[in-house]
Amino acid sequence: MKKIGIVTRDCAGVNAAVRAVVRSADHFGIKVFGFLKGYDGLIDGNYIQLDRRSVSGIINRGGTILKTSRSKDFKTVRGQEQAVKNIKKLQLDGIIVIGGNGSLTGARVLTEKYDIPTIGIPATIDNDINGIEMSIGVDTAVNVAVEALDKIRDTAMSLERIFIVEVMGRDCGYIALRVALAAGCEEVLIPEKEIDLNRMYSEIVEGNEKGKVSWIIIVAEGKAKASDIADSITAETGLETRVAVLGHIQRGGVPTAFDRILASRLGYYAVELFHKGESNICVCLNSGEYSTIPYELALRPRDFEVGGDYKLIKILT
Ligand code: F6P
Repeated sequence: MKKIGIVTRDCAGVNAAVRAVVRSADHFGIKVFGFLKGYDGLIDGNYIQLDRRSVSGIINRGGTILKTSRSKDFKTVRGQEQAVKNIKKLQLDGIIVIGGNGSLTGARVLTEKYDIPTIGIPATIDNDINGIEMSIGVDTAVNVAVEALDKIRDTAMSLERIFIVEVMGRDCGYIALRVALAAGCEEVLIPEKEIDLNRMYSEIVEGNEKGKVSWIIIVAEGKAKASDIADSITAETGLETRVAVLGHIQRGGVPTAFDRILASRLGYYAVELFHKGESNICVCLNSGEYSTIPYELALRPRDFEVGGDYKLIKILT
């Protein structure tokens, strides 16, 4: 292994992972090329060479210094062939892909269809990579949302209102469930759990009759629109509601210490595996142990335990 490339998506902690990859590669005598704007950079041959100094002062920065894209071209055979041509022209021995489902699907294509060695580092706020406890970016996203929720609670309590807050999670309710527990919310609506909305309306009406005046209900974007839930609550209970959609603020910001540590460890581990000649896998840290899983497994729909935390949210309300 003499030369590798990196392709990134964005979320908090990705820069810390880029730094770890570049400096670990230097430690093993490997040169690193950073492709700009994700897979589009691979297709266009748009890259910069990265050394120890070019990743100074980025461990605490959100986003990705390499920029990113949701590349439509890489979904085409023409785009993929062009990317492979550039990888070969630069004589790269492998590619490290830092990102979520879409990015890791791209890594799998490079490996399985074109025989390019790749290693995936899971980084996505949705935490929907299967078989991996925590992806880079999740901890920051949950903390950012909880901080916002604490502020929303001030108004909810002062004005005696019901707030419906929509958090990110395209197909996965992980962020929503954790945020609801950490911010002391009354209800959480996620794709993984069927909720009886009539039971929720009755709980609100009964609570209100007993003097309860404010609620915060979390909705995962993959489940429903917060505005639709708010309208239905007002229609069924006659109580005033307000909506907040947290959106992309959850994906940016200064990474937490947890995300920086995870990114540093996984970045090093990915390079170490490449150096040992291993590839075509996703790295992870499960129960404190470094391990790897094949793309095929990582890209299956994620199943995570919902019941325990959901029950706790209801008991603690
Ligand atoms: O996959 C991460 C994520 O932030 C999801 O939570 C969200 O649904 C999606 O990306 C938004 O994508 P975009 O930034 O392309 O609008």
